[in-house]
Amino acid sequence: MFDVYSVNDVQIVRGSGSWVYDSLGERYLDMYGGHAVISVGHTNPDYVAALEGQLAELGFYSNSVVIKQQAEFADALGRVSGLGPDWQLFLCNSGAEANENALKLASFVTGRRKIIAFSKAFHGRTSLAVAATDNPSICAPVNATDNVIFVPFNDLVALEKAFADNRGEIAAVILEAIQGVAGIKVADVEFIRGVRRLCDENGAVYIADEIQCGCGRTGRYFATDWADTQADIYTMAKGIGNGFPLGALAIAPHIEPKKGMLGTTFGGNPLACAAGAAVARVMERDGLMKNAAEVGEYLMEGLRNIHGIKQVRGRGLMIGCELNPDFESTAHRLLFTQKVFVGTAGPHVIRLLPALNITRDEADIVLAAIKKVLTPSC
Ligand SMILES: Cc1ncc(COP(=O)(O)O)c(C=O)c1O
Repeated sequence: MFDVYSVNDVQIVRGSGSWVYDSLGERYLDMYGGHAVISVGHTNPDYVAALEGQLAELGFYSNSVVIKQQAEFADALGRVSGLGPDWQLFLCNSGAEANENALKLASFVTGRRKIIAFSKAFHGRTSLAVAATDNPSICAPVNATDNVIFVPFNDLVALEKAFADNRGEIAAVILEAIQGVAGIKVADVEFIRGVRRLCDENGAVYIADEIQCGCGRTGRYFATDWADTQADIYTMAKGIGNGFPLGALAIAPHIEPKKGMLGTTFGGNPLACAAGAAVARVMERDGLMKNAAEVGEYLMEGLRNIHGIKQVRGRGLMIGCELNPDFESTAHRLLFTQKVFVGTAGPHVIRLLPALNITRDEADIVLAAIKKVLTPSC
């Protein structure tokens, strides 16, 4: 293998709900879902049945024919997200691809080439997505471009200035309503509304990158919903496929498609749509956004009472705990001594991004485990 990943010495061979099992039969509580991907739980029975049924019928055909599963997925997603039937859906295969297409679409419809992104943003690793990501170490020389302007996150005055300095040139603003990779940084409601207003005033497209913070994780379908405003394009991936590679753009009715404008071979294939529709249906039927809000609140409350955590940030089941620098190995110790998977962000933040149907009992297990590793004698 091309050696680009830092790998934990664990081989996961089986999963069920919020639990995963290694090759030695050891059980782990999965509070990370493989980077926020597991939404309805590992091997959710309805999800597995939908995929098995579709695979036995037809695994793949391309967008050169009518694919009825696309309409079924669009319908289920329109319902669970609250966007309804008027929004348009473009399907692809990953988060980076979703952002790449969203930025390209914004440039097509405005005829402009500049993009505003925010400090510490992460939008993926393909060409324009990585250019709009504030991490020079993953941006190759060929991806570097003057077309992306970085503005400090949550700084509305700086955003106003960026628009004023580039009048008539901004195609899009791309914003994570909660920055994930940056360490769970929540955009202020007033800031999100300011992005909407400035895009309207300047004829720019507002792209909400909901790849990590969306799919009901925060207790509302889109994290942007907390500002009671709408974007022009929502980009999605991760949780919408519960592990099946699936990316999507929800595109506002006012944006007009043109034949050939966007395209992909695999995007929107019957199997991917069956996965996406199953996730959306389970989320709606089982009230998973409500559960995310309630268990998330319970977890955050518990975390705030644990000595050694400097700050707890987030909404619902998208939670970041800022730790003291001397607790840098917390994630490692949680995994190997407490058998709990968590993510990290930056040197001092652990990220909790569990399945949306996690229970209070499971939350109690996590709280006890974190308390234990943060107790100096442990
Ligand atoms: C906010 C955000 N956007 C985009 C991406 C890229 O998604 P993918 O890894 O599926 O390309 C990620 C992945 O972590 C993300 O967190």
